[in-house]
Amino acid sequence: MCGIIGITSNKPVSSAIINSLKKLEYRGYDSAGIATLSNGFINEIKSEGRVDNLEKNLINKKIEGNIGIGHVRWATHGIPSTINAHPHSSETVSVVHNGIIENSTKLKEYLISRGHIFKSQTDTEVIVHLITEYLKENDLKKSILKMLGKLQGSFALGIIFKDQPDLIIGARRGSPLAVGYGPNENYLGSDSYALKSMTNKISYLNDGEFCIIKKNQVEFFDEKGKKINKKVLELSSDEKNYDKGDYKHFMAKEIEEQPLTIKNCVKEYIDNINNDINIYNFPWKKEEINSLTLIGCGTAYNSCLTAKYWFDEMTNLDVNVDVASEFRYRKNKFKKDNLYIFVSQSGETADTYAALDLCNKNKMKTASIVNVIESSIARDSNFVLPIHCGPEIGVASTKAFLGQMLVLYILVLKLSFLREELKKDNYIQKIKSLKQLPDLVEKTIMSQNKIQLVANTFAEAKGSMFLGRGLSYPIALEGALKLKELSYTHAEGYPAGEMKHGPLALIENGMPVVVLAPRDSYYSKITSNMQEVIARGAKVLLITNKNKDDVVSENIWETIEVEDTNVDLLPFLLTIPLQKLAYYSALKKGYDIDKPRNLAKSVTVE
Ligand code: AGP
Repeated sequence: MCGIIGITSNKPVSSAIINSLKKLEYRGYDSAGIATLSNGFINEIKSEGRVDNLEKNLINKKIEGNIGIGHVRWATHGIPSTINAHPHSSETVSVVHNGIIENSTKLKEYLISRGHIFKSQTDTEVIVHLITEYLKENDLKKSILKMLGKLQGSFALGIIFKDQPDLIIGARRGSPLAVGYGPNENYLGSDSYALKSMTNKISYLNDGEFCIIKKNQVEFFDEKGKKINKKVLELSSDEKNYDKGDYKHFMAKEIEEQPLTIKNCVKEYIDNINNDINIYNFPWKKEEINSLTLIGCGTAYNSCLTAKYWFDEMTNLDVNVDVASEFRYRKNKFKKDNLYIFVSQSGETADTYAALDLCNKNKMKTASIVNVIESSIARDSNFVLPIHCGPEIGVASTKAFLGQMLVLYILVLKLSFLREELKKDNYIQKIKSLKQLPDLVEKTIMSQNKIQLVANTFAEAKGSMFLGRGLSYPIALEGALKLKELSYTHAEGYPAGEMKHGPLALIENGMPVVVLAPRDSYYSKITSNMQEVIARGAKVLLITNKNKDDVVSENIWETIEVEDTNVDLLPFLLTIPLQKLAYYSALKKGYDIDKPRNLAKSVTVE
């Protein structure tokens, strides 16, 4: 949820730190700060709001130094303000932190009793005073180990010391942290994205590990202080993905990238010649899996809900779906023949990682469906199914949602066929339809000319509803989530059949209601649910698929038709107008589309 950078070099580091903070802003952007060591002093500058504000501050107060740390914050403890921004420093120590120190209150009381004076309301500041306290009687490594042993909760830390002018300490428990290797300099960062512009050689810390980074040497240690070696990974250089090009927003670019990302993902899994699906090195025999649990958060959870309909339709597997933040504390009945599948674009979502960790501790079968293959969730699952979407920068997930659904659908087809619950000709037919999906997505994206006008109504409304049934119910949830997170208006996704059990009371004259009514087995049902809301004054935006039969049009405010295809694949196409609806609503309101308020791209705290 926050972003960390540290650089130790043979040249001044402040501008490189600022550039990295700009790349990290997608992780949190309510305040930012930098601290460097020069002439035996810690120079700290912090500002509220975006990194640009910090950069403006630096013009007036240029700070020197060949070693430094930086931070972009998403507030957990303490309001977004300059005083609460990181780094937090004493005279001798400066710290940046991503995570939550759960015993900070107790530690603060102890440290105040030892005469330490606190400036901020943050949990992080206890780390500064704790390490300062321990350094009074211990050497650096002992003080680090003692301090880490005292902390409860999650952290990724970057620490510099006035009396150690050539090193940065990094430490990880529960929040991601990477080390990068450069020429006569080395780096610490929350993820590879922050380091990619400086190096493609990366090592990742695991929970409990810490490191001592100098400009020409990096040492890693386990939680007992024993020296360990770490693999150095060479990352692909896909810098072009990190650029908006001539799009106004990353989100606009990522919506339009979907035909290509779907095509790339299909290519990775579909054997074109034999019309078969290749999931290489799947570690389990079909007899070993008799049920599944699909786990994710937010949009990733919605992709799991969609997949359950496919699994129910095409397999006899017992499939459960859960939000990770519930699963991790639920009294779960762990079963050996259950496969736990974790869906996460970033692969760093704290709740999803915690749910995975719980399953690993119970020696369960675990697989992950991720976009970032070097992420913590990918690294700690038994098996990984990448979605191959390229970096998704916009906080509101678009191409990754379609990628998550696509890989889940491919998994459904493969498992169903292997379990002989899907006949071969049906299997081949579905694979052939899948190969048409990129073109259908392209046509649907290009045909959304009406949506911008319609979006204005949603932008001005005080609330809206999104209704669906069967496969389109999770898509209704996703559409409502997109509108909420981008235009900050209340939007509720609901199963259409449930409206009469209460939410119908919400409907009032002129209220915009999206009804997803593809021509599937629910069509007649949902069109009668639609009449229920129309009869109470709702302005219905009907989204359906092209079909030889005319669309019911009486009393419908607007109708949008997506391309026709086999019913399994309609969720992909129905999602697109909803992505655009949210995008244009936020555009109309002038909100920050790539970085919506209060949110962050990777929620690495619980
Ligand atoms: C989606 O638009 C949101 N940004 C959010 O719900 C996101 O899907 C959720 O935080 C899960 O993120 P993950 O896929 O990286 O785990």
